[in-house]
This record gives sequence, C-alpha cells and structure tokens, in this order.
Amino acid sequence: MKITLRLIVSLALVVAAVAGGSAYFQVIQERQRQEEEIVRRSRVLALSLQEAVEPLLEKNQPVRVQRLVEKFGNRERLAGVAIYDAQAGRLAVTESLSQALTDTPKAVRKALAEGTDSNQFADLHGRKLHLYALPLLSEGKTSGALVIVHGAEFIEERLALIRKHTFFRVVIQMVLISLVTLLVVRWSIVGPIAKTAEWMKKLRAGELEGVLQLPKEDLFAPLAHEVTTFARHLRAAKDAAGEEARLRQAAESLWTPERLKEHLKTKLQSKPLFVVSNREPYMHLRRGRKVEVIVPAGGLVTALDPVLRAAGGTWIAHGAGDADWETADERGRLRVPVEDPSYTLRRVLLSKEEENGYYYGFSNEGLWPLCHIAHTRPIFRSEDWAYYQKANEKFAQAVLEELEGIEDPCVLIQDYHFALLPRLIKTRRPDARIALFWHIPWTNPEAFGICPWQRELLFGMLGADLLGFHTQFHCNNFLDTVDRALESRIDWERFAVTKEGHSTLVKPFPISIAFPAASQEQPSGPDRATLLKDLGTKARFLGIGVERMDYTKGVLERFRAIERFLEKYPAYVGEFTFIQLGAPSRTHIKRYHDFLAEVEAEAERINWKFKAKDWKPIVYLQKHHSHQEILPFFKLADLCMVTSLHDGMNLVAKEFVASRDDESGVLILSRFAGASRELRDALIVNPYDAEGTAEALRYALEMEPEEKSSRMKRMREVVRENNIYRWVGNLVTELTQVRLERTPGPV
Ligand code: G6P
Repeated sequence: MKITLRLIVSLALVVAAVAGGSAYFQVIQERQRQEEEIVRRSRVLALSLQEAVEPLLEKNQPVRVQRLVEKFGNRERLAGVAIYDAQAGRLAVTESLSQALTDTPKAVRKALAEGTDSNQFADLHGRKLHLYALPLLSEGKTSGALVIVHGAEFIEERLALIRKHTFFRVVIQMVLISLVTLLVVRWSIVGPIAKTAEWMKKLRAGELEGVLQLPKEDLFAPLAHEVTTFARHLRAAKDAAGEEARLRQAAESLWTPERLKEHLKTKLQSKPLFVVSNREPYMHLRRGRKVEVIVPAGGLVTALDPVLRAAGGTWIAHGAGDADWETADERGRLRVPVEDPSYTLRRVLLSKEEENGYYYGFSNEGLWPLCHIAHTRPIFRSEDWAYYQKANEKFAQAVLEELEGIEDPCVLIQDYHFALLPRLIKTRRPDARIALFWHIPWTNPEAFGICPWQRELLFGMLGADLLGFHTQFHCNNFLDTVDRALESRIDWERFAVTKEGHSTLVKPFPISIAFPAASQEQPSGPDRATLLKDLGTKARFLGIGVERMDYTKGVLERFRAIERFLEKYPAYVGEFTFIQLGAPSRTHIKRYHDFLAEVEAEAERINWKFKAKDWKPIVYLQKHHSHQEILPFFKLADLCMVTSLHDGMNLVAKEFVASRDDESGVLILSRFAGASRELRDALIVNPYDAEGTAEALRYALEMEPEEKSSRMKRMREVVRENNIYRWVGNLVTELTQVRLERTPGPV
C-alpha cells in the first residue's frame, strides 16, 4: 500500500504543479489581454469625444461641454468622462465620477506634461478604475485633456474565475489519477504478484497438476517466463528423484535423462560428447522483421536433441537457416535450446554450391534413393561427389577445431551425409573414438554396388570404431557389401571388419525417442469436434499421418488404401476422416517437388470422389508442424498410419505410441519400417497392398477397447524400455570399450 500511496502522491503533485504553472501563465496572459482591450476601447472613445470637445473649448462654452460629458458618460461599461484645462483644473465631469475625481489623476498630469495619451489603473473611493487621458489641442497647443474612465473590476473577476476553474480541474484530475493508479496497481501489479505467490505456494506444496504455466501478465511476462522455467526444472528434478526412487524400489532398469547423464559422466570421464549431423536441431529463420526458431522435421533431430539436452556437449551441424549466422557467434556457436540452454550448437557454413552438390545432389539424389528401395532411381553426378568430399572435409575441420584440447574424445557421427568423415577425423585424431550411425536402411550388395564411389564410401565409413544400424538385417547387408567391394577381413562372429589394421565393429542399435519425455507435461489441446470443425469437416472416426514429405513414406499408397477402405465399407463414408500432416522437405529436388503435387492431387481426387456436405475423407495440411502442434492430433486420433515403403526405423510410429497415455489408439505400421521389428502390437501391413491396408483400417476402427488397450500398453512398454537414453547409453558404452590403435591410419 505504501508504494501505491507514494505513487499517487507523486503523480498528484506533478499534476498539481503542471496545472498550477499553466494556470499562472494563463492568468498573466489574460490580464494582459484584458488591459490591452480596455486601452483600445478607451482610445476609440477618447478620439471620438476629442473631435466634439475641442471646438467647444475653443469657443469657451463650458455648459455645452458639461452636457456633452454627461451624455457621453452614460454609455455602457463606461464609468464616466472628465475634461481638464491646460492647468489641470477640472472643467467638466460625469456626475457619477465627481466624488471619485476630486484630485487630478496622474494620467491627466502626464498627458498634459508630455502631450501624449496616458493610462492609469487606480483605486478611487473603493472602486477599481481604469483611466485613459488624451491631450486636447487648440491651435497646435495642448489646451487641456479628456479622461475616459472604465470600471476595471471585471478583469479581476475574470481572473478569479480562471483560478477557480483551474482549482476544480486539478482536484478532479487528482481524484481520477488516484483511482486509475489504484486500479492499475491492483490489476497489473498487486494482482499478478499475488497470483504468482499463490502459484509458487501451490508448486512448493506439490498441488499443481498438469502444465506448469504461470498465467502471463504483460508487465511480468519476462519474469513469468523465468519463474515457469525454474518451476519446470524443479518439477523435472522432483519427478526424476521420484522416478529414481521408484526404479530402485522396483529394481527396474529404465533409462532416464538423469541416468544417462550419470552414465556418460562415468563413461566419458566427464568429457563432453560430440555429435555431428547435417541437419541442425534448431534453425533460425527470418520471417519479415522477426527471427523465428524452428525445430526441423525428421527423426534424427527428434531423437538426439533430448540426449544432448540431458548430457550436454557439442552438436556440429550445417547452419542452413537464413538467420543462423546472425544468431551465432563469429565461429557459428551458440547455446541451445534458446529458452533453456543446455548444450552448444556449432554451425558449419556451406556455400550454395556446396549445399547443392553435397546435400541435395550426392546425399539426397544419390545415397538416399540408393539405400531406400522405393523405386526412385539414384542419380550420381561426379560434380556432386566432388562437393560431397569437400563438405565432409569442411565438417572434419570444424570437428577437429571443437576437439582441440580434449583427449580421447567420443564423436557420434550421424547418417549418410558423412560416410567419409570417420576416416577424415581418425587420420588426424587417432585418439578419438568415432561412431557412425546410419539412420537409413542399408540395402543388399547388388543394389549398393551401382554407386560408382562405393569403395571410397565404405573405406571412409570404416574409419569409424563403431558402425551402427537400426537392425541386424542392415548390419548383415553392410558386411555383405564390404565383403563384395573391399579387400578386408570380416569377423562374422564379432561382426567386425578389419581394413588396413583398423577394426570397425558393426552393431544394431534401434533408435528411439525420449520416453518418458524429459518434461512430462503437455498443454491440454482442443477436443476432437473443435479440431475437426477448424479443419472444415465432421467425423466420428479420425486417422492421422505425420510425415516429412518424402516419396519413401508411402503417402500415396496410404491414400489409396483409404480410398479402397471407403469403397469396401461405405458405412464409413461421412464417418471417417484421415488427417495428413506433411512438412515439405528437400523441395529443391525435382522428385520431392513433384511428389508434393502428386500427394495434393491424389488427396483432391479422393476427396472429390467421396465428398459429402460437411465431410471429406482426407484433410491434407501441407506445412511444418511443431511437436506441440502435432500432439493433439496424435492424442485425438483413433488410429495412426505409418506406411513407409522402406524406412530405417520411423520415429513417428514411436511418437504416436508415446503420446497415447490413455492407452488407446491403434498403430497401422508398414512391415518395411524398422519400427515394425519392435512394435509388434501394431497392425503390420504391406503398403503396396491396398486391400490388406484397407482391411487393417477396418480392423483398427472396429477393434474392441480391451484389445486396443492391451496392444497399446505393450507397445508403450517397448518404447519406454528401449528409449533414446538407452540407445545412446548403449552406443557410448560400446564405443568406450573399443580398443584404440594409436597410430594414424592411412587416408
Ligand atoms: C531422415 C534422415 C536424417 C534427416 C531427416 C530429415 O530421417 O535420416 O538424417 O535429417 O531425414 O531430412 P533433412 O534432409 O531435412 O535433414
């Protein structure tokens, strides 16, 4: 209250001072204006009287002068008129003034002495008067003076009125200001502080359920942000401690962020972890005058960001966002995530040509279709290959810079963009333990053999100490390929390749997601009816698909299966809607560009075929959706379709499972996705078989709740057990057990 009072008093004083000052000047100006006005009026009257009086004086006719004075003096607002001779003797005066003008006024004496007009304010016989004296002339000489007398009280009255109005205005302003200040303080300061205090009290007492989000108040938004982050950390720590205790009690072996942190600390001897990937976890993009941070779509980022958040370290990746460089330091480094910095992102700058040749060209028009059997031909251009080598060299430089001063560092290289990187690093840092994880499938030796640079790629990869794939099948394919293409020694028992004295272990590590998530809380989303209404449709049953729009994902096959399903089971027409969220990807590549148009056309065709009032079978939302935006769709869907034509793992399947804490919902999963090896309780389909997939759709929609629940429970158990923390824990354990050959290997 004290501060409110201080605020009100200060404001009131300031207002009073400003209003008082301005009233003071207004009074001065008004007085001046009124005085000038009275002089002007007097002069006009005096001049008109002068003309009449002068001839009468010359002819010495005092009676007529007196009559004239009487007549003239009766005018409105005029107090009277008087005439004096050259010796200042009074010749004539208006009756009403005869008492007041007993002595010759100063103004008359001055006018006679100086021969010019003169003014005077005087208090005469209790009246405030203004006198204006004008010399009278006869034959060029001053023969007397006439005086015009006005009452001047009205000036003071007017000024008093101004003062009075000012006073009331100030009082009203002060009352209003006090009221407004009181309300603002109550609403915007005292209220939010009380709410925050209450919220923190509940937090301390553990009474807060669900999302930890302090109500946002404009003024306190930055504070609310900090307090909320702080509270989340607190809750995460509390949850972790609880979880640890629970696990100890149940002797379970669940991997949590905390457990991973401790594990890595021991395994890496408190040294930082290094991760290299092409795709960065946080991308800064310019949107008009603002810079926005997005988390790019794709399994790699989904999987590894929680690991680095938990364990810390450095992630080296291509800075592909158009505002990436203005948001990092001169070496391209910054701490991320921006709202809760936990690890370092080191961005590598590539020229447009490098990005084109290495990323779009060799990686995504060459290796990607080479490794995925999805019937898109790989394109191998020698200039792309040259850029691929150059970009790998550039990344090697960046990694070596980051490794400086760290002995025996552990480096986890990600994916097909960096087949050459393991050897480039190993040659210069033989003490580094290097793992390369291949996130996409590895095909058979015949298919891989069409790559003109297969030997160089394999040789580069074998610079790693550990090579990881999602499945044993991919490991086998890899070893077969090495066996065919390179001269090397393969140990089929240990699953290791020795080439030029360096051994590489090849093992499966099925990748996963953060489950339980580091922070369990999720904002409650809309209900199904609202969600569908916003999308312009109504439906009793809802299916969902979430993809980075890639031709390997089987989206067209999925749509055709939906079409077949509606043909076979028309009772679902008007009842079942499928929402496809599709993040455009690699759109500079013609195949991807065309693919977007194909998906759109296919959705339109099917919609047109079945469309009814207020309903459509497919809602296709082609844009990047954040994890938070995807979540409500997952939660509200009856089923999720993952129909990849070929996929290393597919983390969308696992994310759907993780999101279903209601232990409901059905997963329809392609047998060609690595995830189908683990998620055996999904309805496993062949996406090329529209009939079979349509049947799976029907089965999913008609499945008994008990069956849904037991399938989902089992799948959730699998994902919980084999989460990303276990994945990286196992990878690092394996890597740190590798025996290093300390001599640099040949390039
Ligand atoms: C796949 C790859 C990742 C890649 C992701 C997104 O999951 O294995 O390496 O990051 O797709 O693709 P993009 O080309 O956008 O990085």
